Amino acid sequence: MKYSMVIFGASGDLTSRKLVPALYQLHRKGRLPEDLQVVGFSRSPFSDEEYRTHLANSLEEKLGDRWDSAEWAKFAPRIEYLPGDINEPDDFRRLGEKLTQCESGAPCTRIYYLATDPRFYEPAVEQLGASGLADESCGVRRIVVEKPFGRDLKSAHQLNDALHRVFGEDQIYRIDHYLGKETVQNILVLRFANAIFEPIWNRNYVDHVQITAAEDVGVGRRGSYYDSAGVFRDMFQNHLLQLLTITAMEAPSHATANLVRNEKVKVLEAVRRLDPRDVAERLVCGQYAGYLDEKDVAADSRTPTFAALKLHVDNWRWHGVPFYLRSGKAMDCRTTQIVIQFRQPPLMLFQDTTRRIGDANRLVIHIQPAEGMQLLFQTKVPDAEMKIRLTDLDFRFQARFDKKIPEAYERLLLDVLAGDPSLFARSDEVETAWRIIDPIIKSWQESDDEPGIYQHGQWGPTESSNWIGRDSREWLDSCPVLH
Ligand code: BG6
Repeated sequence: MKYSMVIFGASGDLTSRKLVPALYQLHRKGRLPEDLQVVGFSRSPFSDEEYRTHLANSLEEKLGDRWDSAEWAKFAPRIEYLPGDINEPDDFRRLGEKLTQCESGAPCTRIYYLATDPRFYEPAVEQLGASGLADESCGVRRIVVEKPFGRDLKSAHQLNDALHRVFGEDQIYRIDHYLGKETVQNILVLRFANAIFEPIWNRNYVDHVQITAAEDVGVGRRGSYYDSAGVFRDMFQNHLLQLLTITAMEAPSHATANLVRNEKVKVLEAVRRLDPRDVAERLVCGQYAGYLDEKDVAADSRTPTFAALKLHVDNWRWHGVPFYLRSGKAMDCRTTQIVIQFRQPPLMLFQDTTRRIGDANRLVIHIQPAEGMQLLFQTKVPDAEMKIRLTDLDFRFQARFDKKIPEAYERLLLDVLAGDPSLFARSDEVETAWRIIDPIIKSWQESDDEPGIYQHGQWGPTESSNWIGRDSREWLDSCPVLH
């Protein structure tokens, strides 16, 4: 079977920083279908050769010592380029001709990848429909939509409608690259391939859950996009809610895409909606000092670059267990982790311990850059009467497997080629996530509050610690402790 992948937005950052490196690595590992041809489509006037050189330069910069020009020379002929404008029907006609020519008229699975500025998603989908390129009479057609998927419920719904006018839901692959991370998929394995965690994975044993996605960099060159998005659209609506659903979902009866996604949607539906009166109690917003001086950021911007949010999942498993979600730019270090904080034992026999919740058992799932897990538990200090101390067992992927963990995009691209949508968001999933986040953004925008300012390298504004402290809990801040 032949495969073609058309990348719209071929001259953009995403293509050169993520998509082409992932395709190249898959080529090196021999995982790409032999007959896969990639066609880049964007307005820049490259020839095939100029486009390949443009990609080679950025890949070489990314790979440094690992750059292998001989291997690239084998991969590069799979890439062609067509200059074109998404608003021009004639350019889609030319695209159709080029594809027929690449595919030599044989039946072919085609993937259309929207890696453009999101304002071109709808026009691109319409043109694909109008030009007959979505037609499946001579092969499967799939479309991949990058995030952000809308900027609120209304626009996400509109985009879903536009997609559904041309493609069936089973042809649509909405990317959330967190789902392609091996350590995120491992949460499902941890929970559902082991019998020992599930019995305690509920309100009877869990005190609360913390989900943190911290970055040590600021907004860099993306000031214009970020200032209109802010941390809720950029990180919460997609990545953090995905981590929440995978942590909280029930076991599906089979590991098929729709059954897994049904369970995830049920979690999102169970998330208690924010009452505007609760905002102060459930939310802390921050902005890093110096954000207002970033390029393309409004001088009086209130856009939060940090937020901490308390959510409740109102179902039988989780009722009464708070989920504290937190994400920020310009923080102390880059770390994404999920902490399952268990309750204290009902009766403490060993009096020398203070009964802080942080002394109880804890499972820390390290998503990145540390990749692994830690289980914390109390142990007797040797030769010291009945003195006890929190100690840990840990597991590191790198120490146990001699394989390097692949980039999320490698897995996601392979799944699109194979037609497996398990790790992609379904239309109802995306819209339900927006139903949770929209009122939060609205409440923040309508409030008179200013974001708490924090210095680069702090864990958000000081208020964030006071806020969780009011629940008699504390952030379990830790920069990656697994190395
Ligand atoms: C993207 C956001 O979706 O995820 C970025 O737009 C953020 O602002 C990035 O930096 C984080 O991804 P990762 O894989 O580095 O955690």
